Amino acid sequence: MCGIVGYIGNKKASPILINGLLRLEYRGYDSAGIATMEENQIVVMKNKGRVNNLNQLAGINDLKGTLGIAHTRWATHGKPSNENSHPQTDNSNEFAVVHNGIIENYHELREFLKENGYYFVSQTDTEVIPNLIDYYYKKENNLLKAVSMTCKDLKGSFALEILSKYEPDKMIVTRKDSPLVIGKGNGENYIASDIPAILSYTKDFYFLDDNEIVELTNKDVKFYNLDLEPISKQIKVIDWGTSSAEKDGYDDFMLKEINEQPSAIRGTIGAKLDNGNIEFENLNFNKEYLESIKKIYIVACGTAMHAGLVAKTLFEKMCKIPTEVDIASEFRYREPLIDEKTLCIYISQSGETADTIAALKLAKQNNAKTIAISNVIGSSITREADYSIYTHAGPEIAVASTKAYTSQVVLLSVLGIYFAEILERVYNQEIDELKQEILNLPSKIEETLKCCKDIKKFANKVYKETDMFFLGRGTDYAVCLEGSLKLKEISYIHSEGYASGELKHGPIALIENGVTVISVITNSNLVDKTISNVQEVITRGAKVLAITSENLGDLGFDTVIKIPKTNKLISPILSVIPLQFLAYYISKEKGLDVDKPRNLAKSVTVE
Ligand code: AGP
Repeated sequence: MCGIVGYIGNKKASPILINGLLRLEYRGYDSAGIATMEENQIVVMKNKGRVNNLNQLAGINDLKGTLGIAHTRWATHGKPSNENSHPQTDNSNEFAVVHNGIIENYHELREFLKENGYYFVSQTDTEVIPNLIDYYYKKENNLLKAVSMTCKDLKGSFALEILSKYEPDKMIVTRKDSPLVIGKGNGENYIASDIPAILSYTKDFYFLDDNEIVELTNKDVKFYNLDLEPISKQIKVIDWGTSSAEKDGYDDFMLKEINEQPSAIRGTIGAKLDNGNIEFENLNFNKEYLESIKKIYIVACGTAMHAGLVAKTLFEKMCKIPTEVDIASEFRYREPLIDEKTLCIYISQSGETADTIAALKLAKQNNAKTIAISNVIGSSITREADYSIYTHAGPEIAVASTKAYTSQVVLLSVLGIYFAEILERVYNQEIDELKQEILNLPSKIEETLKCCKDIKKFANKVYKETDMFFLGRGTDYAVCLEGSLKLKEISYIHSEGYASGELKHGPIALIENGVTVISVITNSNLVDKTISNVQEVITRGAKVLAITSENLGDLGFDTVIKIPKTNKLISPILSVIPLQFLAYYISKEKGLDVDKPRNLAKSVTVE
């Protein structure tokens, strides 16, 4: 998805902008550009392709302006091209705009502007914005007013940075349904769509809410609502270390993030399980309320949804509350049965996923209580939800989610145990044993990470395959879906995750000599059942990698990866690690860009 960076201060803006764009490369993009204010004139430089190409354009090093905006574009309206890249300007190059999001009524606005003498050089939805600002500026002679009037005309989602040659010492930024943060420096201010872009400059952040407009100068940050009434905002200090957004000697962010999982999980558990009952700073549920809950919905997208699938088993077993897991893009349109007796939990690493946020708003409209689980403090979803809890896993940069998944499963598990303690529907011993197993996780993850060499060898054998199958039962099935997604995302190999018991109902027709099957076997009550399914594929010539905490004996597997034993309700936190390594090493063998897989973006801020 598109990325935004901005700077206003006393330093040369262009290197700061380029550096910020490089840090946002992980979001996925196909063109890049910057605009700086050069002696009261806007200079735009942009091109199709990588930020490094932009940085090599003739003249870019001569830019001296101390105020600038920058963008990486992920094409939606109009193919990747120089004309369609941002910044977009008005017809007279007096206003420059970068935009994340989609303007749904751009066609109508184009027609209106054409009737008023404007013309268009790009196919973007964005180009209407600088022209509309120009249209209103001619009436109002005031940039802030022109932007506010423009925003009132826009339908859709947007995060905007705006420069004008008429007010060359200022920048205006605003947002609706698309993230934007402001980093406060000393006599300078930074703007970004994502914290990591500017984390090396400041830890003090303002998080914009929808329909807020900000006027920035070197020294001042003034906030207004859409009617331009002043509002006040608090700074939030982000405690991520600067190196957390660096590769730190690893080849790729994904490899770093896989290896960070012991410390990420320590961060997630924090002090919650230290002594006595679990407490969440931001939650205050009582027994009466929890007993009134008839259903829990866990709603999310992609990997976050897979984390929900693991938690479903735990919530039903420990809390005795029926729990449904739903894909956010489906949930929001299928008229789910929600009322005040429904508790809705939304998971989003980035906290900016458009479908998940929309699904949360739906629950609020239907009087359900909502909990957001996110990794990003102050992110959009946390500002919409009734309650927010954080995974504290540190920034995740690689597009393929790894430590976010495990930290989400851990946090959901702790949340489930917190409810179980209040509800008293299971024996204390069961709760205590699970708590202890969660506390043991960081050291068991460290042990599990040692499988990387064996997985690398297996990856070397199978990286040329075109199809793979992941089989498991119970929570092992849930982790198979995640393993399969990881493989698809970064190795471009087609794969399917199946509940082993479903094999005979269709998928076994695909098993033939030499096919690769990954079998996850950690749910001890289901070992015999899973093994008999796996034997069926071995008999038909499949090459099987088994990931297990059990002693399976010699059953004809190609490779067996032994992982530590833990409670089956949380075993995916360990069994996913070999699956993450498998996707990673296959992608490396194929020479692919692990951190920035094709067509994908780190946070999906549009529908
Ligand atoms: C995971 O590897 C994916 N990149 C993707 O499925 C991701 O989990 C999904 O887009 C949800 O993102 P979120 O957690 O930021 O909402």
